[in-house]
Amino acid sequence: MTANATNTSDPSRYGDLAIVPISDALGAEIKGIDLGNVDEATYRAIRNAWIDNLVVLIRNQTIGDEELVAFSRLFGDLDMAPPQEHGQQAVTGLPEIMVISNVKEGGVPIGSLGDGEAIWHTDMNYVERPPLASALFSLEVPDKGGNTGFCNMYMALDALPADLRSKLEGKSIKHDASMTSGGYLRQGMDEVTDVSKCPGAIHPIIRNHPESGREVLYLGRRLNAYIMGIPVDESEALLDEIWAYTTRKDHTWHHHWQVGDVVFWDNRAVMHRRDSFDSGQRRIMHRTQIAGRSTA
Ligand code: SIN
Repeated sequence: MTANATNTSDPSRYGDLAIVPISDALGAEIKGIDLGNVDEATYRAIRNAWIDNLVVLIRNQTIGDEELVAFSRLFGDLDMAPPQEHGQQAVTGLPEIMVISNVKEGGVPIGSLGDGEAIWHTDMNYVERPPLASALFSLEVPDKGGNTGFCNMYMALDALPADLRSKLEGKSIKHDASMTSGGYLRQGMDEVTDVSKCPGAIHPIIRNHPESGREVLYLGRRLNAYIMGIPVDESEALLDEIWAYTTRKDHTWHHHWQVGDVVFWDNRAVMHRRDSFDSGQRRIMHRTQIAGRSTA
């Protein structure tokens, strides 16, 4: 199945759910469901829509944090919120929910990533077993900006010219663990001066998606990435070239948030990023991550 060639009326995959493709690149909206009340058949249909479309959007949710955790757990065990620039910032009593926010209470940030741009990345690509999926739930959103973009990594691989692709075959990237996608140094980390020595996990650049079986490009943060086994200047030039093809507009879709949206993405098949927004506006998002089962 191509990444966004969903047959939206396939009862064998989606039951009677309404699946509406969002863009030519990836993404589908699932209408008419309450994530606080998901039975087995609905779970199966959401799961299939998510694998087929890479990102699913479910609007108008009034769920609480416990329900967000319960919905996420249908897909597997959850990771704990990772350490960010202010340390680990999770919802009190629910360490699985990371708070992404620019809001400060009593001068203290309640979450991470601030109000700036978050560069293209794959969640926690710097660990051995990155999460297989992430769910992001919007509690407060700015009037303008703060949109979240997604990039189809199957399409990106297909778009690579043969000579560029041949340079990547058999190669791996070391993914830096020190910097967040927002450009902040994680608490307790040292600044990287030589990318070939940065801390972080090493993953093949081209790999097979464990569920679709299809070949997919696996990148992370461009910042401090390093292609193993080649000189740093060659690695930098090759990474710039891959990034330029990968993040082309026709491979991407940007979501404009409303309060109550849940966006659930396949972290093995998409990269994502976020636009900056006005620092005078409030944005509060709660995120869960489904723990990875394998290194792919
Ligand atoms: C993230 O990178 O997981 C957060 C994206 C966002 O804040 O929209």
